[in-house]
Amino acid sequence: MLSIHLSAFIALGTSANAAVPQVTPRSHLQTTFSGLSDVEPFSLQLSPDTAKVCNSTTPGTSGFITSDDGQGGNNSIFFWAFESKHDPKTDPVILWMSGYESPDSPNVPSANLNSSGPGASSVGFGNLMELGPCRIASEGGYTVDNEFGWNANATVLFVDQPVGVGYSRGQRIPAGIRDSSMAMVRFLRQFMTAFPELADLDFYIAGESYGGSWVPALASTILKSESVSNERESLIVQEDRPNLSPNSSRAPKINLKGIMIGNGLVRRSVQNMGFFETVCSGPDSLFNSSQCLEWAPRAMWCEDNLAVCEVDGMKSSTCKEAESKCSGISKVVTEDMHRNPYDFRRECHDQDSCYSEMRYVEEYLNRSDVKTALGVPENQAFVGISLDVLKQWEKVGDLWRASDEYVNHLLQSGIRVLIYVGDQDLYCNAPGMRLLVDRGLSWHGQPIIRLRELVPWYLGTKSAGLWKSYEPLTYAEVAGAGHLVPFDKPEEALTLINSWIHGRLPAL
Ligand SMILES: *[C@@H]1O[C@H](CO)[C@@H](O)[C@H](O)[C@H]1NC(C)=O
Ligand SMILES: *[C@@H]1O[C@H](CO)[C@@H](O)[C@H](O)[C@H]1NC(C)=O
Ligand SMILES: *[C@@H]1O[C@H](CO)[C@@H](O)[C@H](O)[C@H]1NC(C)=O
Ligand SMILES: *[C@@H]1O[C@H](CO)[C@@H](O)[C@H](O)[C@H]1NC(C)=O
Ligand SMILES: *[C@@H]1O[C@H](CO)[C@@H](O)[C@H](O)[C@H]1NC(C)=O
Ligand SMILES: *[C@@H]1O[C@H](CO)[C@@H](O)[C@H](O)[C@H]1NC(C)=O
Ligand SMILES: *[C@@H]1O[C@H](CO)[C@@H](O)[C@H](O)[C@H]1NC(C)=O
Repeated sequence: MLSIHLSAFIALGTSANAAVPQVTPRSHLQTTFSGLSDVEPFSLQLSPDTAKVCNSTTPGTSGFITSDDGQGGNNSIFFWAFESKHDPKTDPVILWMSGYESPDSPNVPSANLNSSGPGASSVGFGNLMELGPCRIASEGGYTVDNEFGWNANATVLFVDQPVGVGYSRGQRIPAGIRDSSMAMVRFLRQFMTAFPELADLDFYIAGESYGGSWVPALASTILKSESVSNERESLIVQEDRPNLSPNSSRAPKINLKGIMIGNGLVRRSVQNMGFFETVCSGPDSLFNSSQCLEWAPRAMWCEDNLAVCEVDGMKSSTCKEAESKCSGISKVVTEDMHRNPYDFRRECHDQDSCYSEMRYVEEYLNRSDVKTALGVPENQAFVGISLDVLKQWEKVGDLWRASDEYVNHLLQSGIRVLIYVGDQDLYCNAPGMRLLVDRGLSWHGQPIIRLRELVPWYLGTKSAGLWKSYEPLTYAEVAGAGHLVPFDKPEEALTLINSWIHGRLPAL
């Protein structure tokens, strides 16, 4: 278990009794680690009792990592890690990064503007609603065991980030995605220092929705920082290292192997073209033929004009203008047809009927007994979605900025990329994702994967969706799932990611 490894670590650095959760004296750790490159001094505070709030045989290890923010304050980052149920010593580590899904989009006039962004709690939504080992009960108030939690064959890490989200706090919200990616790399090095046996394992980053930006940006930042620290490592002379133990004397490596993007937003200008196809193709299409004829010219206009958003994101008025014109289809679907834009099969008339689980998660993590069990100060509210973070992104021009350059960098560097999509999502729809994979990326295998045919993959003997692959890039559709694939199709989602990590998607 993680906590056992951790106690070994604490015993090395301090005289603290690891069985009693407490804040590890910061000054001591500072001394201990100040000689290491790339790991800033930090303190670790473990949660007293995760088993009390997570109904699972693997309730995990959670807590805060607190460190100086370099500006006279502290950042205190909350994480929750669940060790693999299979073999935590060799199974990979998956970091999950949630994106922002607006629960109330149908009622907000500018709904589409807020449909996807940073600022959502991974500990809350990714964990307790989608792929953690325990999920919020369908009536709220408690958690139930999730047999398809992603820690079946991997250790899964959820982090509330950036500061201001979930339980994480700090004085300054990062100025956009580069800044926040660097903050996450700092956090990960600290985390790996606290849990050294995770550092040598294969590392994957997964995320959904705005994860299409988070995930490749962080992965690309890790790649760059690893090459810098490799150079630096060779410059450190042996005597400068504190002589703690053979393994704690070097900065931990982040052994990045791949990323997974689920229903992600990578290039809005390309993916937007999928809206028309999503509502107008097939015999059961949402729009009838006269609606499709009416919307076709505007869909064409958007194909030609939406690229303006790639340059300045939502900051520019030309992008705002284009976007409000191009979000028309989803307005009809949400406001006139009252469908859930994240799963267009579902009706959704008010905030509560979209995903009541989101509200239950927020209420649960805001409860004082739950906070006590997790070691969160009583007076600290749980922030499920931080609009301050969203506003910051908008201000610096990072909201909706394309993230394809990061994905291209990873593909060119041989980092494996899985792009998967639940095919019932309107906002990050499957036709748009196909366009992204076939035309929206730029790497050496691009012309080849474009020519590959989609073929079925299977759960047992049942076809579960379509997929294709070439070298590091795999594209997979999950049939019958909306935006939140692990929520809608838990067993399929687990099978998909496990199979991909270990090689290929299952055939008949
Ligand atoms: C930062 O954390 C340290 C140790 O936990 C504490 O001594 C210090 O007062 C904190 N600083 C601020 C500005 O909160
Ligand atoms: C996943 O875990 C199950 C149950 O522990 C185990 O039987 C299986 O071999 C594991 N699969 C892989 C690919 O590690
Ligand atoms: C998102 O929604 C909030 C509240 O509904 C609003 O204050 C904010 O301006 C919106 N942001 C964007 C980018 O539309
Ligand atoms: C744990 O989950 C089970 C069902 O999976 C439920 O019956 C039980 O009440 C839950 N326990 C707690 C303490 O919430
Ligand atoms: C140090 O790391 C090596 C290789 O990763 C491992 O075999 C060894 O058991 C570790 N030693 C300690 C004391 O953790
Ligand atoms: C198509 O749908 C629109 C909007 O629901 C409706 O007003 C119109 O009558 C429909 N047209 C046909 C030909 O069914
Ligand atoms: C969480 O608790 C704070 C007060 O502690 C309250 O202001 C806030 O509305 C609560 N949020 C939710 C989602 O219950």
